[in-house]
Amino acid sequence: MTSLHSDALVFFGATGDLAYKKIFPALQGMIKRGHLNVPVIGVAKSGWNLEQFRARAYDSLEKHGGVDSSAFEKLCGLLRYVDGDYQEPATFEALRKELGGAGRPAHYLAIPPVLFGAVVEQLAQSGCANGARIIVEKPFGHDLSSAGDLNRILLGAFAESNIFRIDHYLGKRAVNNLLVFRFANTFVESFWNRTYIESVQITMAEDFGVQGRGAFYDKTGAIRDVIQNHLLQVISNLAMESPARLDSESIRDEKVKVLKAIPPITEKDLVRGQFRGYRSENGVANDSEVETFAALKLEINSWRWKGVPFYVRAGKNLPVTCTEVVGRFRKPPSLIPTEALMENHLRLRLSPEVIIALGMVVMTPGEKVAAQTLEMLASHSPSAGAMDAYERLLGAAMEGDATLFAREDYVEEAWRIVDPILKARTPVYEYEPKTWGPPEVERVVPPGGWSNPRIAGETVAIAA
Ligand code: BG6
Repeated sequence: MTSLHSDALVFFGATGDLAYKKIFPALQGMIKRGHLNVPVIGVAKSGWNLEQFRARAYDSLEKHGGVDSSAFEKLCGLLRYVDGDYQEPATFEALRKELGGAGRPAHYLAIPPVLFGAVVEQLAQSGCANGARIIVEKPFGHDLSSAGDLNRILLGAFAESNIFRIDHYLGKRAVNNLLVFRFANTFVESFWNRTYIESVQITMAEDFGVQGRGAFYDKTGAIRDVIQNHLLQVISNLAMESPARLDSESIRDEKVKVLKAIPPITEKDLVRGQFRGYRSENGVANDSEVETFAALKLEINSWRWKGVPFYVRAGKNLPVTCTEVVGRFRKPPSLIPTEALMENHLRLRLSPEVIIALGMVVMTPGEKVAAQTLEMLASHSPSAGAMDAYERLLGAAMEGDATLFAREDYVEEAWRIVDPILKARTPVYEYEPKTWGPPEVERVVPPGGWSNPRIAGETVAIAA
């Protein structure tokens, strides 16, 4: 079924940080590619006028990717601005006027979730919700029960097919490529299962701290910030079955099935860390127990994966910035003693570049009887002008394609998995900035150890 394209884009939180860093650059990108030709209405309460709003857009583009003068001129022609309080009906009457004849607007809530209720109610009362789509930013709730509340608020005014919950990892080409790699190559199916894979580990490492977002981060922590959403999406793509059809619901059904097969994570399978110095960041409590690092183990009790542990590690202020998956193979029934056998693996790097590498054991060159693990490797660096995740997601939502968005049942299942460890108040251990987390992480380690991504001086061979 083809959906009608949205005929206006409204974004709430138009003078905020997300708009500044991500939305204006995405809008300019869409214009450059000829994908945006409808009014774009910013809504915020800052006492600005349209000229000030355009100046903000210019400033944002200058700082984030550069201004393309002809695309910017076109963007200025599309931009409108409504100033007002989100609780006031007058704001929404003004919005209704700006929408003019548009009957299928897309409303993007780039605002804190505490404001969702008020905005959705006013959208409904003013008639702005009629025929409309709604796009909501993460974090989608704070735990299982608040996510349920948000869903009820949204579903009170919009049908599920018109709700687009953003997880920008789903807008990344490398994350979608996991499905193409798995389902467009016959040979992958032969080994990507419990018969051949011993463990899977996923590392999302960032070499920077909280970058001025202390007040937000201190209410969030690594599990809520990136594991509940981004990394569970990566796991869904790694673990799901091939969908019955290629429509959005068939694909999203398979992802939900993966999450349903994951039992809640237990305290014993979690280690939390906090980098030294975090408590002195602006906006952070000086006795904060919030984690900037988490390592955990989970199980997927599906036919394909039962018995294969999945390990997840994410943190700020680690030695590198990189997101990478390593699946280790079971050892072959070789005549060489098992302890002496070296590692055999599939490595899938998602960023900063895309790498698919198969690590295999071969003899070293020369006459000595010795072996090493070598990688056969394919890699792509991000190309200049490549579409950013936000641009891809905004375009898809305006087209009505929900494939790259989290469905109601999916977000609630994702919260169910982490809910107990969010409530458990497990200890948080300090780690030195630029290290791989606290020493206590040794309690949650994949067989064969964590594989630390190396960025500088990447070579094809892995030292034996
Ligand atoms: C965001 C988190 O959702 O994702 C940030 O709030 C994190 O803390 C960011 O740094 C990572 O995204 P990317 O696209 O830079 O890998």
